[in-house]
Amino acid sequence: MQKIILAQPDDWHLHLRDGIGTRTIVEHTAAQFKRAIIMPNLAPPVTTVEQAEAYRSRILDLLPADTSFEPLMTLYLTDKTTEEEVYKAAESKNIHAIKMYPAGATTNSDFGITDINNVINALTAMEKMELPLLIHGEVTDANVDVFDREAVFIDTVLAPLLDKLPSLRVVLEHITTKHGIDFVKQSGKNVAGTLTAHHLLLNRNAIFQGGIQPHHYCLPILKRETHRQALLDAATSGDSSFFLGTDSAPHEIGKKETACGCAGIYTAHAAIELYAEAFESVNALDKLEAFASHYGPDFYRLPRNETKIVLEKTEWLVPPAYPFQTESVVPFRANELISWKLRSE
Ligand code: NCD
Ligand code: ZN
Repeated sequence: MQKIILAQPDDWHLHLRDGIGTRTIVEHTAAQFKRAIIMPNLAPPVTTVEQAEAYRSRILDLLPADTSFEPLMTLYLTDKTTEEEVYKAAESKNIHAIKMYPAGATTNSDFGITDINNVINALTAMEKMELPLLIHGEVTDANVDVFDREAVFIDTVLAPLLDKLPSLRVVLEHITTKHGIDFVKQSGKNVAGTLTAHHLLLNRNAIFQGGIQPHHYCLPILKRETHRQALLDAATSGDSSFFLGTDSAPHEIGKKETACGCAGIYTAHAAIELYAEAFESVNALDKLEAFASHYGPDFYRLPRNETKIVLEKTEWLVPPAYPFQTESVVPFRANELISWKLRSE
């Protein structure tokens, strides 16, 4: 049987949510990843170091006894984030970044920033402290076509921001367009990007395949095939500016299969296997380890993991649902096959 051995990967963009009902999804992540950058978009959001520390302990309480999984915490940037809080975050060993959501861009982003000029002092402090800014890169202007929101954000918000703060360390999260890839490539080493498994595997046709598919609805929304190809090229190019970030974003089934469904795709049950499929589709399995396990820690200035994982080429059937909160979550590829399987130790 074909198998590959990788240094244990980390997930540089993950939604774990909160509470006892997240135990299964916490376990899914801890079964494969050593560390993960935990998104702060709870309701209400995690805006202070104190709240992040408390959230971290709640996550640790849910972990299985035999895991060494480490949650890497982030703060949620609001119009009111102070420079003092930035300094406190930079000094905390458990906080690794601050996340910026434009207000209204996505799930639980109502507290996000309304104008980049409101947070310029906080961002200046982040540049000084070399604390990474993680960006949901989409404008929220209702007049901008939903498929163009990433490109317009890059041109009208991100590029001018980096002109003002040229050494700010930035991760453009879940890049979905060729424009985003090109922007990261032509930026300095202080600018990186994460790529999700679902954006590497699907184009926007998947949202409408045989009828409306709520479990393929996420933000930024899936894009056309030419963009998917550009993402796959970047992921498998060996360029250290691009690394793994699943954006696994579970929602209860009732919040997806409804007249106005939430955005988010759940991939944590099979994340590394899904990336393996994507890399294999372009004969680039040899590039998977650096993308999944090296470039992320290098950017975040953390050691690479010494532990290993084994992936075997063997098909398995994804169950229709996993327990989540008071209901369940429908995972990516529910009732379908995945061609790689993590060997359980
Ligand atoms: C995320 C969520 O549900 O929290 N949803 C998504 O579609 N990716 C929020 C986000 O990262 O945009
Ligand atoms: Zn996300």
